[in-house]
Amino acid sequence: MKAAENILEVIGNTPLVRSHSLAKHVKANVYLKLEYLNPGSSVKDRPALQIIEDAEASGQLLPGGTIVEATSGNTGMGLALGAAVKGYKCIFVMPDKMSDEKIKALRAFGARVVVCPTAVEPDDPRSYYSVAARLAQETPGAFLANQYHNPSNPKAHYLKTGPELWEQTDGEIDVFVSTMGTGGTISGTARYLKEKNPNIKIVGIDPVGSIYYDFFKTGKMTEANSYLVEGFGEDILPSTMNFEFVDEVVRVTDRECFLATRRLVREEGIFAGGSSGGAVAGAIKYAERIDRKLNIVVLLPDSAARYLSKIFDDDWMRENGFLDEDWGGGTVATLLTKKPKRIFSTELGAKVSDVISLMKDHGISQLPVLDEGRVVGIINETDVLNHLLENGGRDEKIDDLVETQFAIVEPSNRIGLIGQFFRQNKIVIVIDGKKLVGIITKIDFIDYVSNQI
Ligand SMILES: Cc1ncc(COP(=O)(O)O)c(C=O)c1O
Repeated sequence: MKAAENILEVIGNTPLVRSHSLAKHVKANVYLKLEYLNPGSSVKDRPALQIIEDAEASGQLLPGGTIVEATSGNTGMGLALGAAVKGYKCIFVMPDKMSDEKIKALRAFGARVVVCPTAVEPDDPRSYYSVAARLAQETPGAFLANQYHNPSNPKAHYLKTGPELWEQTDGEIDVFVSTMGTGGTISGTARYLKEKNPNIKIVGIDPVGSIYYDFFKTGKMTEANSYLVEGFGEDILPSTMNFEFVDEVVRVTDRECFLATRRLVREEGIFAGGSSGGAVAGAIKYAERIDRKLNIVVLLPDSAARYLSKIFDDDWMRENGFLDEDWGGGTVATLLTKKPKRIFSTELGAKVSDVISLMKDHGISQLPVLDEGRVVGIINETDVLNHLLENGGRDEKIDDLVETQFAIVEPSNRIGLIGQFFRQNKIVIVIDGKKLVGIITKIDFIDYVSNQI
């Protein structure tokens, strides 16, 4: 009988499938490594099992122990599979931007899931890294899987993913493309492939907002910004990420990731998730620059099933500006061209009388408020009026009147993004790099949309 002894034995040996539709305009052959066909539906089954086995071997994980991890979901699934078969308990700590499906899947395995805020610094005690470390210390018999710094993570890919790819391609792989989260996948696979053939190019894919692209280009750590695609990109530099083996980093936007993900499912029947879309979008950008028939292998980390209420939901996509609207869409930059170029603003610490003069002289009803060049809020005529009606003085500082309910967009953002901010009663400010370049009111938006229909 050809039966596996348990579910852990069927991890790996995932198929390699050629891409046709998304890659049809490029010269290269693009092959997709379908990691969503692992039993936990992601590539992370591989490092999870390696981490457990190495911890058992070193005595860090004893029978009946508890596995603790900071995970965006997929490593949790892999660890939970291992724990189910081997009889361990699990506690997982996740950032709050993760999809409900991921949280529910972990709870289905009986794991305890703790959700932490995404928008805090990694060393903040509320961050999911810090909370996981604390829980591991407080729980008797706990073992912190520590995928960001555990060498078993890249080792899994060195021992399995790399050799599989080498065999599946008969050694005829020219380029390996991978997203970079902990860096385990790219670092371990690349180390193996480069040992086999140092000419194989390794391309890392990074979402706009993550630190990796800038770090690779400049060697400097920059500040991370938020992005919506899940599972890759970082705001810290994990020790499992080894740039020694990376030849190039290609950057992708959320929009590129999500549109490619939808196309993969609809046009190729490849039921993969958002980072897979990102990996393919980045691989195609890379392939578009190369006019040779290379064999490019792209690793697709996880399954579409975890993103049905996001990437595959038209309302969610439209609200976030990723689908073009019936009225034509366009970017924030296009809308700004219809407005006067000059932008007025005021400074924190200015007097109410200064703001009244500015508003009166230029016929404007709201002003961005800056502090050392950075936008910190908005002051509008209603705030000023209320202040005067409540017997506030004209010589008083405006600081207490400044509203902080505003949203920042960039000129390249789709206009569809703005609608949701108006529904939340936020004022929209446009920043290009660090420079204030515009303020968009509801009437600007109405004007623009009505002219497009
Ligand atoms: C969906 C998804 N994509 C990409 C990655 C990145 O893989 P790695 O951590 O090996 O760099 C992960 C890792 O958790 C993931 O969950």
